[in-house]
Amino acid sequence: MSYETILVEQRDAVTLITINRPQALNALNTQVLAELSDAFAKYDADPSQRCAVLTGSGEKAFAAGADIKQMADKPASDFFLEDFFSGWQRDVVATRKPWIAAVAGFALGGGCEVAMMADFIIAADTAKFGQPEIKLGVAPGMGGSQRLTRAVGKAKAMEMCLTGRMMDAAEAERASLVSRVVPAADLLDEALKTAATIAAMPPMATMINKEMVNLAFESGLNQGVLSERRLFQILTATEDKMEGMAAFVEKRPGVWKGR
Ligand code: HXC
Repeated sequence: MSYETILVEQRDAVTLITINRPQALNALNTQVLAELSDAFAKYDADPSQRCAVLTGSGEKAFAAGADIKQMADKPASDFFLEDFFSGWQRDVVATRKPWIAAVAGFALGGGCEVAMMADFIIAADTAKFGQPEIKLGVAPGMGGSQRLTRAVGKAKAMEMCLTGRMMDAAEAERASLVSRVVPAADLLDEALKTAATIAAMPPMATMINKEMVNLAFESGLNQGVLSERRLFQILTATEDKMEGMAAFVEKRPGVWKGR
């Protein structure tokens, strides 16, 4: 598969994957998901590769969310019938080998959710995390309400989901959303150095350590993510979803009907 929306390079035993749609702040459309699914599957299957880093191109965003323009006119039945967003759980979360998210700038909505799919996040001091879906008349649909709550606890997760407030890098480190914060100029070097350290560890022990920590984190999670996806798909049927996404595209505030 040749890639148009991501870049993949191998640096010794480390695979660097870059979401490469800087003109759309690396918004995650279905092509990005298809290409990431392929890249993560190849990484997982290649014995020469021992750790991966996922980052976004440009300084402004890791990813500013799922692609609102692609979702704006989609009927609710399509979201349900395609089991929209399920590929992230099936292909990206399922990666057995470790991978790190290196986040600079905005990680919003689906961008925050994809960062939280990583085994851990290293953040630049410019990073901003948020789940602003409520402003579009919807809710997280790629695990955000579940993973954010497990990572930072109910109070912050609830506030962020209900208000759309962004968390800066310092707050994200205090709240244990990220493992550490580094100056933006050092982000990629630090992430690649950390990945190289992991890549030098015994491969099976690495995979099993990952599985163990995830076991502690994920008990009950699958049901939560499935329930979240169904609820998200139901929200795509509301008039306020149509209005929220149309308002974004037309660069005006949304006017809500409450249905
Ligand atoms: C599609 C997006 C986008 C997105 C930004 N862009 N985010 N396109 N989907 N999620 C595009 C803009 O339309 C614009 O394109 C270009 O990227 C630059 O963005 P600007 O808005 O001009 O930049 P700025 O003024 O600096 O504001 C940055 C921003 C803002 C605060 C991050 O772009 C923003 O609020 N984006 C949306 C964030 C969001 O709501 N994410 C959650 C999405 S829903 P043009 O062509 O105009 O130059 C989600 C999952 C749930 O992720 C699904 C619900 C159905």
